[in-house]
Order: sequence, then structure tokens, then C-alpha cells
Amino acid sequence: MTKGDPILIIENLKAYYPSNKGLIRAVDDVSLTVKEGECLGLLGESGSGKTSMALSIIGLFEKVARFAAGASNDPNLRKAFDKGLDGEIDRPGIRGKITFRGKELTRLPQEELVKIRGREISMIPQGLGHALNPQHSIGHQTAEPIEVHEEDIRLIELKKKVLEYLGIVQLADAGIRFVLDPGCFSGGESQRILIAMALIAGPYMVIADEPTSALDVTMQRQILNVLRMIKEEFDVSLLLISHDAGVIAELADRVAVMYGGKILESGPAVQMFHNPRHPYTMGLMSSFPTIAMMQMKAGKRPRLRGIPGDPPDLACLPTGCPFHPRCQYAIDICKEQVPEDREVEPDHWIRCHRWSEISEE
Ligand SMILES: Nc1ncnc2c1ncn2[C@@H]1O[C@H](COP(=O)(O)OP(=O)(O)OP(=O)(O)O)[C@@H](O)[C@H]1O
Ligand code: SF4
Ligand SMILES: [Mg+2]
Repeated sequence: MTKGDPILIIENLKAYYPSNKGLIRAVDDVSLTVKEGECLGLLGESGSGKTSMALSIIGLFEKVARFAAGASNDPNLRKAFDKGLDGEIDRPGIRGKITFRGKELTRLPQEELVKIRGREISMIPQGLGHALNPQHSIGHQTAEPIEVHEEDIRLIELKKKVLEYLGIVQLADAGIRFVLDPGCFSGGESQRILIAMALIAGPYMVIADEPTSALDVTMQRQILNVLRMIKEEFDVSLLLISHDAGVIAELADRVAVMYGGKILESGPAVQMFHNPRHPYTMGLMSSFPTIAMMQMKAGKRPRLRGIPGDPPDLACLPTGCPFHPRCQYAIDICKEQVPEDREVEPDHWIRCHRWSEISEE
């Protein structure tokens, strides 16, 4: 596989949770690729479906969805995966196709997915709260992804590798602190440990889900620098998930904008930041005037406009284009028909009925 070839191909992916209000269409007909060696930035407001997409890729969506439904008091939810939900045609769970390095992940049994998780694709999970086990030393936890895949690795080699990777993510005094529990580390340090865990088994692709959002500004900068170093020095593809366009602008080669469970626009980062063409992307980009974006806009100062209104409830999506209740360009067809995903120039995709008129304005 050479740089630029697709390493991950997502085709018509749907990932639905059951709920008392009906199906939550967290990922709703998403098609997307991540290329070998690139950083794809997945940008979207809270609740747009980003984490659900990441969980689908690593084969954990159904497990998480079934666990949440099984833990509920509602017998309809507990049975929803087998019987469906009242009044719904579609079932909860995953549909569509995810292919990673030629393997169709969506067809693999869990035993096979376990072999791929950590070793071929790893994930830095969102939120630091539950990511590390408070009862095990960070050295022990950093070693876990290797132990799962190489049961006969010698202890001395394992320790060497753990210290090597804690060193790569620049954890201060790793050589003496690796025996300590997570409670002895700051938020930024915990994030470095999670990055080391994601890298240690040598994956081809790393998914970083909101790697900076639980941190203060100084820590955010440091973690972005660690991720940049990984992007430049390791041979990995990166799926960087964030609600912050400034974070995405720092690292992404291409950007996909998610809203209401759909990708509304995707394309090369320079085009997406310089010349967004979907009304939602235009609003998003003008809401986050970070230094990096100002630089990307080549001296043009972005206007602070924001997007009026709230993101949709994924259990009760509007008909037609999910953005229509907030879109200043909406016309009748937008309320009736879901716009198709169109490639408007090479590698630049838009879901909007009016993209060509809006682009000309
Ligand atoms: N285990 C679950 N069971 C039921 N619904 C869920 C579950 N996890 C998430 N959801 C719902 O699915 C939708 C998408 O959530 P998701 O976490 O994928 O969004 P997100 O874009 O990652 O948001 P954020 O930026 O806040 O992390 C939301 O409506 C959320 O409430
Ligand atoms: S399809 Fe219509 S409502 Fe949706 S973004 Fe385009 S113009 Fe706006
Ligand atoms: Mg999330």
C-alpha cells in the first residue's frame, strides 16, 4: 500500500441506537475514505455522531449500544436488537460496509476484530475520566495493547518498550513514574499516556477522539504538538475527531464535516478552510477564529457569525436536509428531499441541493 491509497473505506454506514423516543440515527448513510499516511479531521458540533462513527470503525458500536439498552429499565429497549422498536422500520445496530486494508471489518466476527483493535487500528478515547483504570499502574496499562497480541513477550522487553513509548510522548520522569497509578498524573500527562497506549502495538491507523477537549489551553497546545510529531514521524494514518475547527486546522490534510449523523461536506483542508461551499461548513468555519485558521485564510480576518439555532435531535431528525431548519438558503426542496452526496470537484464532496448557486454568490 502506498501513500495516498485509501486505507479505510466507509460505504453507506448506518449506526443506530434504540431509545424511548425511537431510533437515534447517530450515523446515517456515511461514505468516507481515509488515505494511507494522511490525517482526516472529522469536525462537528456535539451530538453530531462523531464518536458513534469511531466506535463503528473499531467494531465496538453494537457492544456499546447493546450495553446501554441492556442497562435500561425499559424491556422494549432491552429487546430492541432482536425485535426492532415499535413504529420503526429500521433496526438498531450497524449497516453498511467498512473496509480496512482490504479487510471488510463489518463482516468479521468479534474474535477477529479483537486481533485488529490496538494492533492495526487503535483509538484514543474521548474524555479522560474513564479512560485509565485507577487501580493499575500506568506502566501496566501502557503494556496492555502489546500483551493482548504478544502473549509470550518477555517482561524485560515489555518494560523497555513501555518506557520507549512513554518517552516518545514525552512523559516527564517516565523511568521512575511508570509504577504510579493514574491518579498521580495531570490531565495532559494522562492524555500522553493514552497516546502511548494507542501507538505501542504499532497500528496502521489511530483514531483520536477529542484528544484536547478535556484540557486547558496550554495542555491543548502540548498535546497537539505530540500528535503533530506522531503524524510526521510515525507511519500512521490519523482520524482526528474534534468539535473545534481550530484543532482540526492544526493537523488535518482533509476534513469531513458531520451534522445530524451525515457528512455534509468533505475535501482537502485548504479548500475546506479557504473556500467552504456548504452553508453549514461556512457557518462553522466563521465561528472559530483561531490563529491557525487566520493563517490559513491568508491574511483575511474571518467574521464572527456563528450558526443560529441548535443541532437536531437524532431521534427526531427533520425531513429532507438535516440542516434546513437553521439554513438561511433553505427552499422547499430542502425540507422534502435529503440532498445526495456529490463530488463537485476532485475529492471534494457536498450534500446540498443549492451548492452551485451558493458557491457563485
Ligand atoms: N450508548 C448510547 N445509547 C444511546 N444513545 C447514544 C449512546 N451514545 C450516544 N448516543 C446518542 O447518539 C448521538 C450521537 O452521539 P455521539 O457521542 O456519537 O456524538 P458526538 O458527535 O461524538 O458528540 P460529542 O461532541 O458530544 O462527543 C447523540 O444523540 C447521543 O445522545
Ligand atoms: S440543502 Fe438546502 S437547507 Fe440544506 S444546506 Fe443546502 S440550501 Fe441549506
Ligand atoms: Mg464524541
